[in-house]
Amino acid sequence: MLLEYVMALLVIMGLTTTFDKQHRHKQQFGNHGDTDLSNVILDNYEGFEPHFDNNTEREIIAALGTTARLHCRVRNLGDRAVSWIRQRDLHILTIGIMTYTNDQRFLARHIDNSDEWVLKVVSVQPRDAGIYECQVSTEPKISLAYKLMVVTSKAQILANRELFIQSGSDINLTCIAPQAPGPYTHMLWYKDTELVSDSTRGGIRVVSEQQMKTSNLVISRVLHTDSGNYTCSADNSNSDSVFVHIIKSEQHAAMQHELAVRMQLPKLLLVLLTFFHLLVGAIK
Ligand SMILES: *[C@@H]1O[C@H](CO)[C@@H](O)[C@H](O)[C@H]1NC(C)=O
Ligand SMILES: *[C@@H]1O[C@H](CO)[C@@H](O)[C@H](O)[C@H]1NC(C)=O
Ligand SMILES: *[C@@H]1O[C@H](CO)[C@@H](O)[C@H](O)[C@H]1NC(C)=O
Repeated sequence: MLLEYVMALLVIMGLTTTFDKQHRHKQQFGNHGDTDLSNVILDNYEGFEPHFDNNTEREIIAALGTTARLHCRVRNLGDRAVSWIRQRDLHILTIGIMTYTNDQRFLARHIDNSDEWVLKVVSVQPRDAGIYECQVSTEPKISLAYKLMVVTSKAQILANRELFIQSGSDINLTCIAPQAPGPYTHMLWYKDTELVSDSTRGGIRVVSEQQMKTSNLVISRVLHTDSGNYTCSADNSNSDSVFVHIIKSEQHAAMQHELAVRMQLPKLLLVLLTFFHLLVGAIK
């Protein structure tokens, strides 16, 4: 062991730093005694070759019009490039983070120093369905195939497109997304462009049932300010909107009327008094 170490040390003096690194690696992971130097170098060299992480999802289901993401993970990429190829026409869509097609819906995303190279397909169309290859520019090239499926799925609010709700009563909207592909995390409700859950208004409750792919939005004792465009949006699914008008309740209207009468009464009295006063003045 010691003798071998001394011999190796002598050899190192004439070799590259790469070898030095590998020798240290050998030390670290033990020495089999009979392993010769060329073997050590070859073993480690293979360990540093680019290879795919096979644990990424390779069958992607995306709803029409949404953004699909194909995740390719390459270990030990080194100075090689990762490309995305569409198998149907062997079109090179992206190389590195550059798009090489006129169709600007195809984008490559990569975070510096990460292993991940994502192909983003914005606003998925039926013609996008098919096989895509994540390819590494090794010699020979290595590639991994991904299957993109496109489904038509739409979130649906079970209500008329326009709703008239009396102020003071509750809104209960139900949204369903029966064909939503795959498991989705949330169904989100928006009022106009604001996320309902971010609202500072109290009395809002959202109950989502992931298995049933439904979500209920309940807003209690609505006010005029609750009028607006309510949108239900499910992950991987298109959204649906209804417009809610808050109208004055009959009770409210009656109160308003009563109030108006009471306001009118003193005015009438004043007119009568003035008239009476003038009349008395005239008589005098
Ligand atoms: C991972 O993918 C590579 C390249 O396609 C293949 O050679 C290898 O056998 C795969 N490994 C596993 C564990 O599936
Ligand atoms: C809202 O409507 C749904 C579906 O009709 C119902 O299951 C739920 O209990 C209602 N929630 C409230 C608070 O009324
Ligand atoms: C409601 O909001 C959705 C989503 O932002 C939008 O597509 C739709 O046109 C809006 N509808 C109205 C009536 O403003």
